[in-house]
Amino acid sequence: MQQFRIRPEEPGDWWEVEALYDLCFAPGREALSSYRLRDDVPPVAGLSMVARDGEGILAGAIRFWPVHVGNLDALLLGPVAVHPTHQGEGLGGYLIREGISAGRKKGWQRVMLVGDAPYYSRFGFKRLSGVEMPPPTNPERVLGLELTPGSWDGVRGAVSRWSK
Ligand SMILES: CC(C)(COP(=O)(O)OP(=O)(O)OC[C@H]1O[C@@H](n2cnc3c(N)ncnc32)[C@H](O)[C@@H]1OP(=O)(O)O)[C@@H](O)C(=O)NCCC(=O)NCCS
Repeated sequence: MQQFRIRPEEPGDWWEVEALYDLCFAPGREALSSYRLRDDVPPVAGLSMVARDGEGILAGAIRFWPVHVGNLDALLLGPVAVHPTHQGEGLGGYLIREGISAGRKKGWQRVMLVGDAPYYSRFGFKRLSGVEMPPPTNPERVLGLELTPGSWDGVRGAVSRWSK
């Protein structure tokens, strides 16, 4: 990833990251149920990252939010996006692995997301049966990864907005 400068997202990056997400996702992305878990909740400090190319142009971004699953805490990964001119260069995978590793170091035990299993399985994500995102969400797309062994074992229930 030498061609990119990667650092934690700062407040001044916010609207540029939003513009990248608008470019990379279908219109109406904010109507998705996962956004209701993000309303009025700040992303997890230090885990959200931006990657800029040699000219300072935003090439990729990842954010993480805190959520509750039943009475446990989890990281919600996403959105993650890479500018179309840089897709397939390994940047998305790098941001995901770095973010997960930083989350583990900060003491988070489990991470989840709503996404394509064929992509996220390479990072170890598996279907979370019994973990319910707010509707409408396709249960096949609710995926989880353990940051400490067994941390998703037996975890069931509704995903709710962070309230600490
Ligand atoms: C998904 C995304 C973040 C991946 O970033 P990237 O930098 O292009 O990914 P990488 O270079 O690390 O990996 C590329 C590989 O992922 C695969 N891939 C990308 N999106 C995929 C998907 N939705 N399903 C299956 N495989 C996918 C590519 O085919 C490629 O496969 P290969 O390694 O066999 O060649 C990026 O393509 C993107 O921004 N897409 C649009 C927004 C989006 O869908 N975000 C994820 C949902 S939260």
